[in-house]
Amino acid sequence: MSRSGFLSGKKIILGVTGCIAAYKSCNLVRDLIKLGAEVRVVITPSASAFVSPLTLSTLSKNRVIRNIFPDDLNGNVEVDPWHIEYGIWADLMIVAPCSVNTLAKINAGFADNALTTLITARRSPLILCPAADHDMYEYDITQSNIKALEARGVFIVEAEHGELASGLTGIGRFPENQKIIDAIYTVVSGRKKDLTGKKLVVSAGPTYEDIDPVRFLGNRSSGKMGYQIANAAFQRGADVTLISGPSHEYIYPEIKKISIRSASEMAKAVQGSVSKENTLIMSAAVADFTPSTIADKKIKKETGGISSIELKETEDILASIGGKFGYVVGFALETDNEMVNAFSKLERKGLDVIVLNSLKDEGSGFEFDTNSVTILKQDGSSNKYPLQSKKEIAHLILDAIAGEI
Ligand code: CTP
Repeated sequence: MSRSGFLSGKKIILGVTGCIAAYKSCNLVRDLIKLGAEVRVVITPSASAFVSPLTLSTLSKNRVIRNIFPDDLNGNVEVDPWHIEYGIWADLMIVAPCSVNTLAKINAGFADNALTTLITARRSPLILCPAADHDMYEYDITQSNIKALEARGVFIVEAEHGELASGLTGIGRFPENQKIIDAIYTVVSGRKKDLTGKKLVVSAGPTYEDIDPVRFLGNRSSGKMGYQIANAAFQRGADVTLISGPSHEYIYPEIKKISIRSASEMAKAVQGSVSKENTLIMSAAVADFTPSTIADKKIKKETGGISSIELKETEDILASIGGKFGYVVGFALETDNEMVNAFSKLERKGLDVIVLNSLKDEGSGFEFDTNSVTILKQDGSSNKYPLQSKKEIAHLILDAIAGEI
């Protein structure tokens, strides 16, 4: 069965090492195949103590390589330079989970088992997902191996903080598949950790303006675009803070999330993160109007109900922070005269960049996983990007500003 997805036609080698998280590699194989990849698995001898090669072979629909030399020669000599063939075949190699032992061996250039041999023979980019118990992960040699490999251009997906298989809580947890797949996206789309050292504040989602304790005025923003920007910026090495209205989107646990509800709470949170060191990406759909008063008890039908709501204008957050951030990206949602309105919004709000969303473009806007935008800059330049995933649009926005922040 052929699958479509961003990995359609991509050839991926998944390396699995001896680590309790090895069982999670089974789901990773399935997810990669669902996204269209062809997957071949290579494991270390100790990985098979944690996960069965037969399971990985069945899921990947390919043989699993465990030993450098053929398992059973039947007294005959067999030529199988599989490592050379695999090394040329692969578009990408990923080791997930990567034990601290294999991490150390890769950094030292060892080729003492099938997996480490293939690492030395491969031509493709390499992603490593180190995972271990807290103290093993924090061990200074493990940490210096991670840094050294990163400096060599290996893409590292750092382990997460949380409950570990040992029962301890700390750093070392294998990340969610979604984050690993996002890392693969970052690498196969040719991006790198080019935002390392940059600080980004991203606002996302709708705001809810309360009428009484049970009712509110809201809007249809899902938060998808802002969450994709925050996650993509983190993938590219940035230190990210997300200020979010109500949303169910997935955000990496390392990203500091400030949850807000109303436009005034959003204003306070954004104003609280003002710094010339920070770049603000204001993708939230902030309400322009809010009820003049909030009833402190539920408004009952018997006592007259609600026939009209008096509204007052909310504070324009972007206009209020003018010039206080190092760099500011705003969004514009327009239905008519899009370019003219967007440029005048950029001027009026003192922005460096404005991302124009046109509700006229099919498949764009709220609730969709796709979007089509035009990125306009203060110097008068503009670039229109056709309909594509919000993940790619997030990266395109970051591409447009990466050299300027
Ligand atoms: N925005 C803001 N504060 C508000 C309303 C909007 O900072 N109270 C920000 C949005 O996050 C977005 C940009 O302003 O980045 C443009 O939002 P948009 O709704 O398109 O423009 P408005 O200024 O509200 O103008 P209008 O609705 O009249 O088009």
